[in-house]
Amino acid sequence: MAVRTALQQLRQPPHPCNRSLRFASSSFRASDLTIEHSKSTKPKPDPSSLVFGKHFSDHMLTINWSESKGWDKPQIKPFQNLSLHPASSVLHYSTELFEGMKAFRGVDNHIRLFRPMLNMQRMLSSAERSCLPLFDQDELLECIRKLVEVDQEWVPYTTDASLYIRPTFIGTQPSLGLSKAQHAMLFVIVSPVGPYFTVGGFTPLSLLADPRFVRAWKGGVGAFKVGGNYGPTIALENEAKNQNCEQVLWLYGDEEEITEAGTMNLFIYWINKRGEKELVTPPLDGIILPGVTRQSMLDLAQEWGEFKVSERTIRMRELLETLESGRILEVFGTGTACVVCPVGSLLYKGKGLLTSLSVSHCQTYKIPTTKNGPAMRLHKELTDLQYGRKKSIWTQLVI
Ligand SMILES: Cc1ncc(COP(=O)(O)O)c(C=O)c1O
Repeated sequence: MAVRTALQQLRQPPHPCNRSLRFASSSFRASDLTIEHSKSTKPKPDPSSLVFGKHFSDHMLTINWSESKGWDKPQIKPFQNLSLHPASSVLHYSTELFEGMKAFRGVDNHIRLFRPMLNMQRMLSSAERSCLPLFDQDELLECIRKLVEVDQEWVPYTTDASLYIRPTFIGTQPSLGLSKAQHAMLFVIVSPVGPYFTVGGFTPLSLLADPRFVRAWKGGVGAFKVGGNYGPTIALENEAKNQNCEQVLWLYGDEEEITEAGTMNLFIYWINKRGEKELVTPPLDGIILPGVTRQSMLDLAQEWGEFKVSERTIRMRELLETLESGRILEVFGTGTACVVCPVGSLLYKGKGLLTSLSVSHCQTYKIPTTKNGPAMRLHKELTDLQYGRKKSIWTQLVI
């Protein structure tokens, strides 16, 4: 399948329940934003000892919506707990979606966002699928830019860390009836995060592939970043750990299609049956999250034009046959957290608590890793753009 543009890949058809809203409701405006500065600032954690998602900045952005009044004015205010009615739809029916993006302090001390419009578009498509109200993506992005500007001292002064941005959208409907939310809240919190890999660099991941557990299914919501896709995966991730694997390779269907690894998109660099070097990743067929990093990998590899780049279905059998014939060059996951993460081994059909297979059915496959393959090169290329070592139209200045 030909590689499609980022916009084509992320654009979803309007969801029926929001069709009229799209035109009827006006968005909030960044020009209406009010800022209440925190009276005190918290001490900043040492960037070399950051644990993902544990530290939060001094401020947050909140924007409330109700069907009767539309969008309220956006507010930046001191970071604080939310007050929710106990019947809020988010607490009962998982009416929730989120995004994950980062702000980077560059070598020139400017702060940049990386392809943030792709996150805005994905968030809007998740909102449509969740029957939550729509908004103008540029206006949200400008509010987020302002939040990062207010909390700019929380963007670590190092190219080994960044500020993780978590836009979140919840249904706050105070009623147990299962219906489209008439009250909702969009909020954004930010958190300084360290490097995905500890000093010493790229440590290859081990994956557990058990075909009886799926992350997403055709016609479902795997292509959207809704919270309900994530909580239920924790049990299998724990199971992977019990079997000495770090993450799960999510397979799908009787043919055991390869989909994603943990919360990363998956790429395989191999020599195909025609003897060509090829970088392949599963297509966006509704069960794969359209990753911003995935799209960036495809765009960069296409631009290099040095090997074939394909989006196509890959089945487990094909992966194992190619591995056994020595034609796999490397396998890696991609995502905002790690950019690129090499895969070093695969435990196929595990033997743990959740499974009833006997030990004889499972097998560990070693996957080659290389320092000169596309994984390392793509990692360097992307981080050079993010930290301003190279100029790019993909980055957007915050300040
Ligand atoms: C299921 C899943 N796949 C892939 C990704 C990678 O997406 P991105 O590159 O936009 O971070 C993520 C992370 O958001 C994810 O949760």
